[in-house]
Amino acid sequence: MRRASLTAVSGIEDPNVGEIIVAGGEVQHRVAEIGAGITADYEGRTPLLVGILKGAFVFMADLIRHIDLPVEVDFMAVSSYGSSTRTSGVVRIIKDLDRDIAGRDIILVEDILDSGLTLRYLRKTLLARRPASLEICTLLAREGENDVDALVKYSGFHIPPGWVVGYGLDVGERHRELPDIRRYHAENSI
Ligand code: IMP
Ligand code: MG
Repeated sequence: MRRASLTAVSGIEDPNVGEIIVAGGEVQHRVAEIGAGITADYEGRTPLLVGILKGAFVFMADLIRHIDLPVEVDFMAVSSYGSSTRTSGVVRIIKDLDRDIAGRDIILVEDILDSGLTLRYLRKTLLARRPASLEICTLLAREGENDVDALVKYSGFHIPPGWVVGYGLDVGERHRELPDIRRYHAENSI
């Protein structure tokens, strides 16, 4: 018989992991709604979902199971933050797509939109490859200067300023496994 590990779930080994911003159950409910929206919008087509590694991998895994259509997946890895929680202002492609996307219906899947630098850069880069269409789906959008609605077709939650971890999101590669999205308290976080 297995015993649940409360330490891993509550993140109490790291005192900087704080209050729940979006509970895991709420996330699941919203991901189902987004999946239903994509199912309706892409009826008769086979969208190619492009997940932005690493943060979006948990969201992507749940999302495709709520899309009632044939879908394909691919991934890109980019880096704009390095290991700090402040943007460097530079987007680097670390892993590109495996296949050509010309003529495909692309849905870019991201964990969180902050300044929009990452998604604007990726959209420009992928549009140059002539897909049939390209839309953006982000689980979270941080409230701020950025015009989320102009950039994003599907979004899960608007969250207040402050770094968050869990459900795929990290701080220095930690805490991606937490089922809830939680505040991360650190002096150098935004
Ligand atoms: P943007 O390019 O400024 O929009 O930043 C978006 C990227 O920064 C996302 O892909 C995330 O990887 C990362 N990021 C921004 N805020 C957070 C956060 O609170 N937790 C974890 N990653 C974040
Ligand atoms: Mg990211």
